[in-house]
Amino acid sequence: MRKPYIAGNWKMNLTPSEGKAYAAELSAAVKKAGVDCRVMIAPSFVSLPGVVEAVKGSDIVVAAQNMANHLAGAYTGEVSPEMLKDIGVNTVILGHSERRQYYGETDEIINSKVLLALSLKMEVVLCVGETLEEREGGKLEEILERQLRVGLKDVLPAEMGAVTIAYEPVWAIGTGKTATPEDADSAHAFIRRTVAALYSEDIANNLIIQYGGSVKPGNIRALMEKENIDGALVGGASLKLDDFLPIIIFSK
Ligand code: PGA
Repeated sequence: MRKPYIAGNWKMNLTPSEGKAYAAELSAAVKKAGVDCRVMIAPSFVSLPGVVEAVKGSDIVVAAQNMANHLAGAYTGEVSPEMLKDIGVNTVILGHSERRQYYGETDEIINSKVLLALSLKMEVVLCVGETLEEREGGKLEEILERQLRVGLKDVLPAEMGAVTIAYEPVWAIGTGKTATPEDADSAHAFIRRTVAALYSEDIANNLIIQYGGSVKPGNIRALMEKENIDGALVGGASLKLDDFLPIIIFSK
C-alpha cells in the first residue's frame, strides 16, 4: 500500500517571516483536519530554520529545494547537505526542471547530489519530466528513461525506500496546463516499469510517484484516482492555505 504524499514546493516565494507564519498556520490546519497522507513543504534555504521551528510537533516534512553536491569546502553560494541536516532538514528535492533549465544541472550532477543525500540517510524527491518539444517529438519515454537511469545510477536497492519520484512535465509547470490524468498515469506507469527493470517489481510497486504541474484543488482528486499517481508536487497552489489545504485533504 502506497501512502499518498502531497508536497508543496514554494520555489523562490515567501520571505522567512511569511513562510514561518504560513507554516504554523498550515501545521495547525493539517492537525485539525487529521489527514492520512504525508505532507511536505519545501521553503527557500533562508526560510528553513523558521519553518522547521513552526511545524515542530507535527508530522509535516520540511525539505530543501536543492543542495550542493559536496559536503563542505570552497563552493561559494552553495548549501551542503550537512548544513541542512544540522537544522533538522532530512529531505531534499533534486533535479527540478527549473534547476535543469536555468542552472544547467545535468543528469550527472543531479545523480551526484542523489548519491550524496542518500549516503547521509536523507530522503530524496527526484524530479523527472519532458519538455513540450520532447513530448511532441515522440521522445517522452527516452527522456524519462535517461533521467531515471542516470539520476539513479549507483543507488542501491536498499536505498530506494528513501527515494520518491516526481513526474513533472515541463510544459505543465506554472502554465495552468495540466497533463490529463490519463497522460500522467501512463507516464507514471512507464516510470514504474523503468524502475522495475532497473531494480525489481517489488521496489517499483512500493515507489511513490508524485505528479507535478498546475495541480489545484479542482484537479487533485481526478489525478489521485489514477492507479499510478501516489501524490503531488505542488508549486503555485502550495503558497496559500486556501489552495493547499483542499489539495492535502483531497480524499475527504
Ligand atoms: P506548479 O509547479 O504547480 O506551479 O505548476 C509545480 C512544480 O514545479 O513543482
